[in-house]
Amino acid sequence: MKLLFLNGPNLNMLGIREPDIYGRQTYADLETYIRSFCGELGVECEILQSNHEGVLVDAIQGAYQKFDGIVINPAAYTHTSVALLDAVKAVGIPTVEVHISDVSRREDFRQVSYIRLACCKTIAGYGFRGYRLAAEHLLANERKD
Ligand code: DQA
Repeated sequence: MKLLFLNGPNLNMLGIREPDIYGRQTYADLETYIRSFCGELGVECEILQSNHEGVLVDAIQGAYQKFDGIVINPAAYTHTSVALLDAVKAVGIPTVEVHISDVSRREDFRQVSYIRLACCKTIAGYGFRGYRLAAEHLLANERKD
């Protein structure tokens, strides 16, 4: 199984940005963690972070017929982006939405998620572990076609 991990804007600032909410581990730590659990699970992975919506749309489109699943933390684009929603719908790849923080307990504007409409699961509030839970979910529900 091959998984694409996508991270949206400001996640490159992990470790610096709002540590009370996102913790003190850096984006490099997150990449190391993802590579390590993918190795354990026997999953191939690619990881991309971008602050640009169009780059994320291109990455989702580029995953068509190349990846078996997508794990995406769209960060702020969660709450604004119809383009990311449409991209996930367009490629039809099983996708899990992940948030480090528990967005359900934060501001009202974070209660809206466009991409959720195209995702098979949403995991929020488990910190970095959410990425692993997402990969495990995709692995357990792998398509056999
Ligand atoms: C986030 C939650 C979003 O509301 C926020 O804009 C982020 C990170 C999270 O991982 O908890 O940038 O997606």
